[in-house]
Amino acid sequence: MAILPPTVRPLQPSPDSQIDFGASIEGIDLENLTDEQFTKIHDALYRHQVVVFKRQHKLSAKAQYELTKRFDPTADNYGHGKTIDAKRSILHPDLKTVPHQPQVQIIGNGFVESYEGLENFQLRHPHHRTFHKDHIPDEKDHDYTRFYRWHIDAALYDLNPPQVTTLLAVQVPKGRRQTLLYDDGSDETMDVPLGTTAFVSGERMFELLSPAEQEFVRTSKIEYAPHPYIWMSPAHSRSTGLGLHSEGLELPDSDLPPIDPKKIMILPMLWKNPVTGKLALQIHPSAVRRIHLADGSVIDDLSRVREIVYRLQRPGISPQYVYAHDWEEGDLVLFNNRGVLHSVVGAFRPEEVRLFRQCNLAASEPPMGP
Ligand SMILES: [Fe+2]
Repeated sequence: MAILPPTVRPLQPSPDSQIDFGASIEGIDLENLTDEQFTKIHDALYRHQVVVFKRQHKLSAKAQYELTKRFDPTADNYGHGKTIDAKRSILHPDLKTVPHQPQVQIIGNGFVESYEGLENFQLRHPHHRTFHKDHIPDEKDHDYTRFYRWHIDAALYDLNPPQVTTLLAVQVPKGRRQTLLYDDGSDETMDVPLGTTAFVSGERMFELLSPAEQEFVRTSKIEYAPHPYIWMSPAHSRSTGLGLHSEGLELPDSDLPPIDPKKIMILPMLWKNPVTGKLALQIHPSAVRRIHLADGSVIDDLSRVREIVYRLQRPGISPQYVYAHDWEEGDLVLFNNRGVLHSVVGAFRPEEVRLFRQCNLAASEPPMGP
């Protein structure tokens, strides 16, 4: 049988969409990846930001880990390290670790009898009500949803943001769609598949800014809170899944685990694509603490910091710029974690079982600035 060369096809956005990223790759056996094939994947990932491989039901956790690691061969620990073990982390209830491949996590919704050596466990799909200041009323919860929380997969303290994330859909509840509400005074809505993962391009987010804003993000840096997933308030997101102005609910430093100032992250707002050189506006909105300006001064007022970040990010999450992946079982999605923001979406019923495997690795190097 002739072996066809791998093909990369850009995703075909719907007519009302303006997304300019996303591709699918066919013809690669990820379980037995060659160097040549990986070069093709690497190039496709940095040109298209989000790459979909279909029919990967049988992909092992080991092969998923190895594909993820190819992007950063000296990285070896899960992107959050062991920080998610902290019971107070808001991420703690959402993740189960694959025992034989601890860099790979199991996420989803509902009760699972047996998977990857784990027996009888409960998964919990994050619901926007746990993270938004106000939420969609229960009686509308079946039909309507929101972005849960726009983010980069990153610990943002001590550990560098992962280069890429891989997400494998093992089991997906079928059939329903929901209407996603922005609920921010705009009348923007989106029709989305149940439990979609939403992506936006940081490059597009940057391009949408005015020249003055572009100069601001080119020259300013973001300081992230220490132990951000313990620090952040459980209900501080705006209805759009971007950070809210501060309500003063974040934990004071004295209530956090010990803080090592050397581990606090101050990162550029713009991160450079290693293949194309393009700049992406990459800010994790709910973990921001301070803005460091070009002249050396610092904006310390959290409400003001969040207002500034919100103003910079909101244009780039409008519906025409959002790619909402319609998951099919066996889909493996590989994304450039340093070039897109993403969000969980949707509200499942308890009996709707969703089973995913996720892998990312704390990077060996910090992101490249402009
Ligand atoms: Fe994520």
